Amino acid sequence: MNRPPSWIKRIYIVTVLALLVSGLAQMPIFKRYYVADIPGLGWLAQYYLTHQIHYIAAAVFMALTAYVAVMHLGRWNREMRVTVWGHARNLLVVGIIVTGVLRTLKNMPWVFFGPDLVMIVDWLHLGFVMLLGMLALAVLVAKGKRYVAKA
Ligand code: HEM
Repeated sequence: MNRPPSWIKRIYIVTVLALLVSGLAQMPIFKRYYVADIPGLGWLAQYYLTHQIHYIAAAVFMALTAYVAVMHLGRWNREMRVTVWGHARNLLVVGIIVTGVLRTLKNMPWVFFGPDLVMIVDWLHLGFVMLLGMLALAVLVAKGKRYVAKA
């Protein structure tokens, strides 16, 4: 096996969608803009639930990222090289994970972050998420742009 198996891609897409929806749910925008009033979507306004979903999806996301990184450093990189777009995505993923872990730490009762630090980490997490979305869109619509190419 010299490439990531296709199941990784499928789980990755579902996981990032779960992170996006559960993250946005905590801002909280779904109640404010009446999305949670649509029958069947009331759970989007249950912050404890969406918080739990975010944590579980974050754990899956980090496990997948670690697996792909280790496999790339080992076997996959003999056939594949990471393009400049791939490096940009990797940086954003690392940024999202670092700020996500910091946000998780901040939520622990025994950890104290000052208000400025809380705001900066919050904005960085959201900023990296938005940039990842823009990058994904650009790579999707632009011809010939890929995250990896043949070595
Ligand atoms: C592609 C992956 C991810 C996406 C799309 C995402 C998205 C979001 C969004 C939109 C928010 C709300 C931002 C705000 O309130 O301004 C958020 C909050 C948060 N995220 Fe993520 N996130 C991702 C990965 C992670 C990871 C890997 C972790 C943990 C290791 C994490 C932990 C958190 C925490 C703790 C919060 C704050 C929840 C709260 O206490 O209100 N996120 N995320």
